[in-house]
Amino acid sequence: MENKITIAVDGFASCGKSTLAKGIAKALDYAYIDTGAMYRAVTLYCIENEVNINDDNAIQSALDAIDIRFKTIEGKNTAFLNGKNVEEDIRKMFVSNRVSEVAAVSLVRRAMVRQQQEMGKEKGVILDGRDIGTVVFPDAELKLFMTANIEVRTQRRLLELQNKGQSITPEIIAKNLQHRDHIDSTRADSPLKQADDAIVIDNSNLTENEQLTMCLALVKIRINS
Ligand code: CDP
Repeated sequence: MENKITIAVDGFASCGKSTLAKGIAKALDYAYIDTGAMYRAVTLYCIENEVNINDDNAIQSALDAIDIRFKTIEGKNTAFLNGKNVEEDIRKMFVSNRVSEVAAVSLVRRAMVRQQQEMGKEKGVILDGRDIGTVVFPDAELKLFMTANIEVRTQRRLLELQNKGQSITPEIIAKNLQHRDHIDSTRADSPLKQADDAIVIDNSNLTENEQLTMCLALVKIRINS
């Protein structure tokens, strides 16, 4: 697998995109960019600084003051906001509850997309998000669109949050996932939608290993074609 490609992984909330993308990145020694973490970091900043997201000037000042970086810490991709490790905070429900509204703001999208395009300009990169195959890297050699049924997605996120010591009910999680899917799919600016040339993967009944094996086979085909 010598030829490096760009891989876009898009799909619905909590459908295993990041697990898959991290697995592929590790197997191929590719760089991994978690674009959702970037929108989550902007959201955290807006909450902490009480930024009015309907005010373009306020949003622009916030974006000018925001610096998002990723570092690998103990083998884990970790998000930093203005030098502070925010990996844990950005996954909490108070951020999940607001992130889709913030991510629908065009100024926010423009700034994040620009940074993602810069971060991913070298081939040998995999990005997970909502608009990677349609907007950020429309020329990506491999585009995957992930989906899974709501029960499976809810259970996965429940387990993830419980493992981090957050107590939450499945009902609250399911409501948040559906709420985000709705806003993400219906927003005016770069909505979540499958790229025409994306391969759809419903992983409701696939294990992490099965989906990884399947997608690595797809990567191999693309690299050799
Ligand atoms: O991991 P999960 O599926 O819960 O979501 P995420 O990938 O962390 O993304 C959080 C939110 O960021 C999404 O619900 C979208 O509102 C937004 N997002 C986006 O608009 N565009 C992207 N490329 C990635 C995320």
